[in-house]
Amino acid sequence: MLKDKTILLGVSGGIAAYKAVELLRLYVKAGAAVHVIMTKGACEFVTPLTFQTLSGHPVHTELFNLMQEMEIGHIALADRADLVVVAPATANVIGKLAGGIADDLLTTTLMATKAPVLLVPAMNVNMYENPIYRRNEQSLRDCGYHILDPICGFLACGWEGKGKLPDPAVIVEESRRLLAPQDFAGESLLVTAGPTREELDPVRFLSNHSSGKMGYAIARAARLRGAQVVLVSGPTALPVPCGVERVDVVSARDMETAVLGRFAAATVVIKAAAVADYRPAERAGEKIKKNGQGGMVLELEQNPDILRRLGEVKERQLLVGFAAETADLLGNARRKLEEKGLDLIVANDVTMPGAGFDSDTNIVRLLYRDGRMEELPQLDKDEVAWQLIDRIVALRRGVIPSR
Ligand code: CTP
Repeated sequence: MLKDKTILLGVSGGIAAYKAVELLRLYVKAGAAVHVIMTKGACEFVTPLTFQTLSGHPVHTELFNLMQEMEIGHIALADRADLVVVAPATANVIGKLAGGIADDLLTTTLMATKAPVLLVPAMNVNMYENPIYRRNEQSLRDCGYHILDPICGFLACGWEGKGKLPDPAVIVEESRRLLAPQDFAGESLLVTAGPTREELDPVRFLSNHSSGKMGYAIARAARLRGAQVVLVSGPTALPVPCGVERVDVVSARDMETAVLGRFAAATVVIKAAAVADYRPAERAGEKIKKNGQGGMVLELEQNPDILRRLGEVKERQLLVGFAAETADLLGNARRKLEEKGLDLIVANDVTMPGAGFDSDTNIVRLLYRDGRMEELPQLDKDEVAWQLIDRIVALRRGVIPSR
């Protein structure tokens, strides 16, 4: 989403200007071309040379600079941007923009651009709460400017409260969202991810190798494309994707409760979790001790099949399952699609190199209800997720028949 895009990064004069350096680095790493405009105040905190070196482009600082105007021109900067990001955006810049004042290069460019504008305010908490600032921010929201709220924390001015610039990675993710197609907007996605753990005693459990990467990638892609996303997750080490509501569960029965309770509100459900089919018939209250007599037999009982249950009670929801197989991939996947009442199943052979648990890539086949099968090449899990959402959008729009 950021590759080959042109981002105009405005930096205004607050202490958080130093974080804009990291932000620039992340944009460049993601393949974007970044042009930087700094206000006079910003140049007091960080030198233009820093931004110039890291962006590989001249930094623009003055409205009436004959040389800069010859090279690019402020209107050209406004025109060529796919996205304009101001981070940090001071109360002063926000106030000027809300008041229609264009008295330097940054505010002039902001007024002139037709690209989406993301403002990332950072300031002292009292300034942030000032009713004049609040009014200005609201009027910019009303005009269609995108504003990423500051976070709470210890501020450079010594105060504690809301006013800190969000982590640069969060600003980059929000930028991706603004550049992504919003073709999944209006959908409420319920997605499950990760393994479940079935406790044997206070120190042991039965589980599987699922890392959760596939389900998390789906949650992220769906949210970037505009959906409301609830991610019901078994234990994983993964960070929650931006803007996604995560519900943590441990066992299959926890997952069943979490999923059934949220099913009615969902329009699409994707079950990427590797749910344990069995749990120990009894969970010991104390750590099980060796009995010194060789082996031990564990009695297991079956867990509920959550997806099958959803297939039985579904009304208008689109249901997507996964099939992790080690043999007869298509036969088993087709059977699961039918038996669980799914609209689509994503089948993968977890024994293949580059596919399955804990890998960063996957090799999947998509099986539809009307008998069609599509084979995707080995792709990053993020790309598999993106392509899966493409297919679901098409199913929802009736471009691909669902029956
Ligand atoms: N699933 C589920 N509840 C279970 C088991 C599986 O909701 N108790 C879901 C998974 O999230 C996945 C699909 O069903 O979307 C298929 O899971 P998989 O483990 O491949 O197959 P199973 O249904 O468990 O069948 P089998 O053990 O025979 O392979």
